[in-house]
Amino acid sequence: MLVHVYPAEELTCRAAAFLFAAQLTQKPDSVFGFATGSTPIPCYKDLISFYEQGLLDFSQVISFNLDEYCGIAQDHPSSYHRFMHENLFSHINIPKENIHIPNSMGVDACERYDKAIEQAGGIDLQLLGIGKNGHIGFNEPDDAFSCGTHIVKLTESTIAANARFFKDEKDVPRTAISMGISSIMACHSIVLIATGESKAKAVYDTLNGPINPHVPASILRLHPNATFLLDQDAASML
Ligand code: PGA
Repeated sequence: MLVHVYPAEELTCRAAAFLFAAQLTQKPDSVFGFATGSTPIPCYKDLISFYEQGLLDFSQVISFNLDEYCGIAQDHPSSYHRFMHENLFSHINIPKENIHIPNSMGVDACERYDKAIEQAGGIDLQLLGIGKNGHIGFNEPDDAFSCGTHIVKLTESTIAANARFFKDEKDVPRTAISMGISSIMACHSIVLIATGESKAKAVYDTLNGPINPHVPASILRLHPNATFLLDQDAASML
């Protein structure tokens, strides 16, 4: 596992964009795992800029997103479908049919998502943020690590953290569909970005505490190709 600390948020996210750019340059039909939240936005801005400059071509890329809320429409202003289209997909040349975002509709929704990842040959590079409670995707602290894609009951901490994306905290969905810990661990490479002081404790517990499902991100220490990109504030407790 690699840990890099940068002096500013912008540089931390740029380092992640460089990893995606390198992967795409070496494998034009890369399978990317994308994440939502505030953290990756500067990374997506850089990827869009690289594309606009003619440095990157996403025409053969296949993408899978980590998670999505249950019970809101795809075009809901706070859906992760909408987030990804506004912050990345509508600005690059990834074909619409190559984009996968979990959708909780249908009894076999989770199995179908895992199967689609498998059929694409697995994820080459997965981007992750980290929750203040150490979650990755919507894999919340629990007594056991999750396996494949599954439906999750969100914790109060995550609901409160995500209320900023909704009109009111009561509008935040209480459940979500998320790739599981096994799905994430199966990715060939992982890059986790953490920025800001609010993530310092989660980063400390992830890197220095026991590997434990109560800090889901801690399992990444067992991944053979995981890179943590931190700004100084997120690394301040290390
Ligand atoms: P954030 O969310 O980037 O909005 O802080 C990260 C996460 O919850 O995984």
